[in-house]
Amino acid sequence: MFVEVAKEGDIAEGAMKEVTVGGQKVLLARAGGRYLAALGACPHMGASLAGGRLEGTVVTCPRHGSQFDLADGRVVRWAQLPGVVAAIGKAIKKPRGIRVLAVRAEAGKVLVELTSG
Ligand code: FES
Repeated sequence: MFVEVAKEGDIAEGAMKEVTVGGQKVLLARAGGRYLAALGACPHMGASLAGGRLEGTVVTCPRHGSQFDLADGRVVRWAQLPGVVAAIGKAIKKPRGIRVLAVRAEAGKVLVELTSG
């Protein structure tokens, strides 16, 4: 089911914003002239990715610097923590990508497909 999350033009090229849809926090971004969406919480420790940085289609988490590609959800770089903490952290939290959502822009609206689970 596609749900309206923004109006076209609400998000400038290269910008991101977090929207709440059906109780889920969704990161909406615009890069390369297209809209991209993913679940908004960082899979490392839950920080809001919308507070991070967007370069091309890659978002950097503001908390520990994990990077994810919004085009396909893959991990570009996992959390950047100092030595021992990183080793322990990696043992506990294996790198995992973000869940991307299908986006459609039509009639001036940006729609995101919500899936359960
Ligand atoms: S919470 Fe995002 S990298 Fe740690």
